[in-house]
Amino acid sequence: MFQDKKVLFSGMQATGNLTLGNYLGALKNWVKLSDEYECFYCVVDEHSITVRQDPATLRKRARALLTLYIAAGLDPEKNCIYYQSHVSAHAELAWILNCYTYMGELSRMTQFKDKSAKHADNINAGLFTYPVLMAADILLFQTDVVPVGIDQKQHLEITRDIAQRFNSIYGDTFTIPEPYIGKAGAKIMSLQNPEKKMSKSDENPNGSIYLMDDKDTVIRKCKRAVTDSEGNICYRDEQPGVKNLIDIYCACTGMTPSEVEREFDGKGYGELKMAVGEAVAAQLTPLQTEAARLEKDKAYIDSVIKNNAEKASYFANRTLRKVQRKIGFPDRIR
Ligand code: TYM
Repeated sequence: MFQDKKVLFSGMQATGNLTLGNYLGALKNWVKLSDEYECFYCVVDEHSITVRQDPATLRKRARALLTLYIAAGLDPEKNCIYYQSHVSAHAELAWILNCYTYMGELSRMTQFKDKSAKHADNINAGLFTYPVLMAADILLFQTDVVPVGIDQKQHLEITRDIAQRFNSIYGDTFTIPEPYIGKAGAKIMSLQNPEKKMSKSDENPNGSIYLMDDKDTVIRKCKRAVTDSEGNICYRDEQPGVKNLIDIYCACTGMTPSEVEREFDGKGYGELKMAVGEAVAAQLTPLQTEAARLEKDKAYIDSVIKNNAEKASYFANRTLRKVQRKIGFPDRIR
């Protein structure tokens, strides 16, 4: 779609309080990759309503998330930052792709199984077809690369399957996207239960570091992180708590696990926890300051929202029209 650059697409849900996992697994990599690709960064508010939301809170969180993308260092002049609900092509392509996706495939999705167990009173059809909307997001932009955490890998695989199926019926229509999963931070675990992913919906607030946590809170949560009784700072599966702290430290500092092992050779968990807390706070504090500054500039954020929705619609509609033509929908009369 673009002559000299490959295309990158990614998104985040505007639900709950964003965690350090969202930042290190996704947003930080987005910033790193943004010069190399033609980028589309979406606030996926349509995905959010697969779980019941309070309307005023959803609206507020969506805007805060869009602002955070910019605060993290994504320049909205160069990167298309927009709301999914402002570009109707997402929902239109999702409907079409629903007809090329099998119930069996969707029922194998682990996120569906987890979420339907958690929200047993609201297992709606949107929750089930959630990956199809995600496939539409990605395929609309002829995306080459999708930076995500490991938990989204299965959704990337189904996206590729749907695209390949469509292409094999109608000829080359969609670019087949590749996931980009960073070396460090691809799966940040809960500080209280290092066998479980750090998640916005964790009931124990000490398990997650939230992006808006202040320095004292970050350090307190790191100090309380569950480790083990081994007493050695080693990067290995048998010590999941320590491994997670090393992963966080690596993702914040750019160091490798063996460099961290060397730095803390002969030192105790207390020192590691303190260093991790400091490193995390050093990432989050500037982000928070910039987000607070941007939030006040209402006119600027409004102009980003308007201009980028138009840009995203333009490119998304190009793919949508191509798809509609291929499947036999009548041509528009101009
Ligand atoms: P969401 O909103 O749950 O998470 C946003 C991003 O954060 C990553 N992530 C993590 N990475 C490392 N460790 C963790 N503990 C952790 N928790 C979350 C996720 O992998 C994700 O990259 N379905 C998606 C949103 C979406 C999307 C898309 C993503 C909708 N359409 C198209 C990419 C492309 C989701 O719910 O992410």
